[in-house]
Amino acid sequence: MSLSELPKLELHLHLEGAAPPAFIRGLAKEKSVDLSGIFREDGSYAYRDFVHFLSVYEAATSVLKSPEDYARLVTAVLEESAAHGVVYCETFVSPDFCGGSDVGAWREYLHAMQDAADRAEAQHGIILRGIVTCIRHFGPEKAKASARCAAETAGDWITGFGIAGDEGQGKPRDFAYSFDMAREAGLRLTAHAGEWGGPQSVKDALDDLKVERIGHGVRAIEDLALVDRLAEDGITLEVCPGSNVTLGVYPKWDQHPIQKLRERGVKVTVSTDDPPFFHTTMTREYEELERAFGWGAADFHEISQTALAAAFCDEDTKAKIA
Ligand code: HPA
Ligand code: ZN
Repeated sequence: MSLSELPKLELHLHLEGAAPPAFIRGLAKEKSVDLSGIFREDGSYAYRDFVHFLSVYEAATSVLKSPEDYARLVTAVLEESAAHGVVYCETFVSPDFCGGSDVGAWREYLHAMQDAADRAEAQHGIILRGIVTCIRHFGPEKAKASARCAAETAGDWITGFGIAGDEGQGKPRDFAYSFDMAREAGLRLTAHAGEWGGPQSVKDALDDLKVERIGHGVRAIEDLALVDRLAEDGITLEVCPGSNVTLGVYPKWDQHPIQKLRERGVKVTVSTDDPPFFHTTMTREYEELERAFGWGAADFHEISQTALAAAFCDEDTKAKIA
């Protein structure tokens, strides 16, 4: 079986960040919005660094104006994921972008996304679940509104709550109230940390937000006592190596710590983060892991089993994936 056909589980995918550039250009044209500044001549997204990436991401997202636009986005993204062998995917969705954190509007966006996901499941067999995500640089008050949306819609499809955005702004404890609200609603928790922040950012996410997964978390490697804690506590890392290499967190694939973390007993999984922005796909992640670390069928199987165990879905759904 080729690497593209190998069944894969992806736990860390930003929905708008997975939008193909041509899809965003098409919507911009329909709505007469000039987005030419965010594209390179070759049609790919243009950004200088991580903080600029976040603003280009938000500019691209600005043309997604209705539940119908989000349904079309889910359809486009799942078609692409399924073509790379993804059978189960968890995607970050943000009420800030879908109705501005008004619960009624959020419900409409959610229903449209769920309908599109149901159609993709019927057509391609791919299963999607949503993790409501607050955005760190939008601040704690907006995060509370997102947590309220998440709590109101927690259930079969919205199964988690998380935080993304600029790790350089604020502290995890500023968002503890929102995470408490989400936990009380029965949602599973994850937080971006240890991508731009060092080991302390991972400790803060664990201590202050009480998450069971960490988005990235790779810079924990700079503190071996923390690495051992992650291993002992069974914390799963949503590792996105291609994203880290493209954004310069690590200069080369060979220097990425995913293998070292794994060898020291940490549960690692593999995801693309924002695939067209980072010029990657799940197939490319697997190809590079094969090339850089000699991973083969047994390693990829282990990664999938780790992702299945850490997935934020119910046991009936897991039984369908396995
Ligand atoms: N990291 C953090 N925040 C984000 C990302 C990301 O890759 N994509 C969208 N928001
Ligand atoms: Zn991310």
